[in-house]
Amino acid sequence: GKVAVMMGGKSAEREVSLKSGAAVLAALRASGVDAHSFDPRDKALEALHAEGFKRVFIALHGRGGEDGTLQGALDLLAIPYTGSGVLASALAMDKWRSKLVWQASGLPVPDFVVLDAASDFAAIEARLGLPLFVKPANEGSSIGISKVKQAGELRAAYELAARYDSCVIAERYLAGGEFTVGILTGQALPVIRIVPATEFYDYDAKYLRDDTEYRIPSGLGEKSEAEMRDLALRAYAVLGGRGWGRMDLMLDAAGRIYCLEANTAPGMTDHSLVPMAARAAGIEFPQLVLKLLEEARY
Ligand code: DAL
Ligand code: MG
Repeated sequence: GKVAVMMGGKSAEREVSLKSGAAVLAALRASGVDAHSFDPRDKALEALHAEGFKRVFIALHGRGGEDGTLQGALDLLAIPYTGSGVLASALAMDKWRSKLVWQASGLPVPDFVVLDAASDFAAIEARLGLPLFVKPANEGSSIGISKVKQAGELRAAYELAARYDSCVIAERYLAGGEFTVGILTGQALPVIRIVPATEFYDYDAKYLRDDTEYRIPSGLGEKSEAEMRDLALRAYAVLGGRGWGRMDLMLDAAGRIYCLEANTAPGMTDHSLVPMAARAAGIEFPQLVLKLLEEARY
């Protein structure tokens, strides 16, 4: 039946989503699927039924697409969709509450503090140490994130992040490197180590620059890599994640692994990580997209 590739939307990640959606749409069509783009910014969801769509591929990122709201609407419309359901989507979108769930489950997360305008910024700089990261809790693609390197800069970083979300967190910096684990059909894909040429893996490093280095194999060694994949699966499962997704993790200077965040509708652009990891596992992009669609449910 007819498939809607939902892309665009109104979040700060709209541009990324349009790229993910275009790649997904092209791959589905090349495989003979009757796929059409559907931008919920321009069309009410009721049109899905009216236009005869039988399944939805969610290529939306951020609020209104990846955060459980769309998933809830599709549940009520009884239209199968790719990826996680309401709860996991909502929890994963929220970097603060996902950390709380992981902590309560005994899974390692970097030390963090929730900020507000009345926070004692100097005390928080002292507690977490410098550098540290400041992030809007509900945002993707590193939008609104700063790396605070100098004492006294935390407040400005908070104010920037607060433009994107009323919930802002400060997080301890970990020096051992940044990693990601794609999840497909309940299995962990090969670990990717991300080595940005910029200060951290920010929006430019993700989508605009070509000098970010992606290492597969990650160089971690078999044992640590297995540990990381296992932790990624457990952390994703604790949130209730289903189908596919991506866990971002970091190592500290001593080589211990920590959970950073979960992504329930990860990027599918030509720079994106899940397609890269799938390829390393022998799954080319068109095959990946078809697998995800096969798992669609409500
Ligand atoms: N939020 C972006 C799309 C990602 O996680 O890939
Ligand atoms: Mg994210």
